[in-house]
Amino acid sequence: MKKSLFFTCCRVMFQKEHLNFDDEELYRYARLVTSAVIAKVHTIDWTIELLKTDTLHAAMRANWYGLLGKEFKDSFGHVGGVALGGLVGLKKPQNHSVPYSLTEEFVRVYRMHPLLPDNLLLRDISAPTGANKSPPLLKEVPMGDLVGLKGEKTLSEIGFTKQFVSMGHQSCGALTLWNYPMWLRDLIPQGVDGKDRPDHVDMPALEVYRDRENKVARYNEFRRGLLMIPISKWGDLTDDPEVVHALREVYGDDVEELDLLVGLMAEKKIKGFSISETAFTIFLLMATRRLEGDRFFTSYYNEETYTKR
Ligand code: HEM
Repeated sequence: MKKSLFFTCCRVMFQKEHLNFDDEELYRYARLVTSAVIAKVHTIDWTIELLKTDTLHAAMRANWYGLLGKEFKDSFGHVGGVALGGLVGLKKPQNHSVPYSLTEEFVRVYRMHPLLPDNLLLRDISAPTGANKSPPLLKEVPMGDLVGLKGEKTLSEIGFTKQFVSMGHQSCGALTLWNYPMWLRDLIPQGVDGKDRPDHVDMPALEVYRDRENKVARYNEFRRGLLMIPISKWGDLTDDPEVVHALREVYGDDVEELDLLVGLMAEKKIKGFSISETAFTIFLLMATRRLEGDRFFTSYYNEETYTKR
């Protein structure tokens, strides 16, 4: 079974502190703590990076710690309702009458392939860091060489540590039109026999096709479903004349035809946001529900379940 680096650290830590745990118990507790830490990083680190405004910084921390804040919660535990004490540590899960799951809409707005770069900037991790705190650049490796069968070979030559440290020093791409990585337009999939298949994949085309074949609501209908104001002309979506021109070429003046994925990329962003306001609404709902609907963040969020340090 593959295990993450964090999982292994967690296991070693438990081994030191709870010598009476058998192998199965060690595994189970380490898995639980790893999942909870990932959820916490997702809530108060990753989401805050995507939505870089003071309001969202405060809001995501309030989701986890409550308005009373981390220090208060660390000292006194969960006090009050959701607002004061945060979602984590509520007495019981709240499902709003619908069992929690990641919704189809969430998957749709999470198609964020423009985040991927064209090249991996490989760093010399044995050299001291420069003025910008990054190790010096060794070379640029095209992303196309890092996926599929070729990718397995290239990545084993590079090695895990160098790959991950290099990725940590690289910015991701912007979620905007005309930023789809070109190498994803000719992706080589492998068959069940592990060999390259003859028919290559044009990912951006496939993504739009997938939404259409699965009858995912188009952009405007999607917004209506979220009780957000739909657009009535291209100028409501963006004030970039080049984008308006391109949209008109594809869809004419029929804004109802706009595909969700295209709309998400074309939408004018709120200052500080990397994602569209439409995607943000889904994020907000999902991020909140995944915490409040989970017994491991509510009724089971205690020392008995997670162990005491
Ligand atoms: C090397 C990097 C990546 C490759 C090669 C890759 C490739 C793919 C492929 C081949 C699919 C299936 C397309 C289909 O048949 O519909 C897919 C789906 C998807 N990808 Fe990626 N992807 C990568 C990175 C990412 C990243 C960074 C994100 C988001 C941050 C992402 C989000 C998704 C989502 C949400 C789906 C749809 C899953 C579903 O329909 O259940 N991918 N990707």
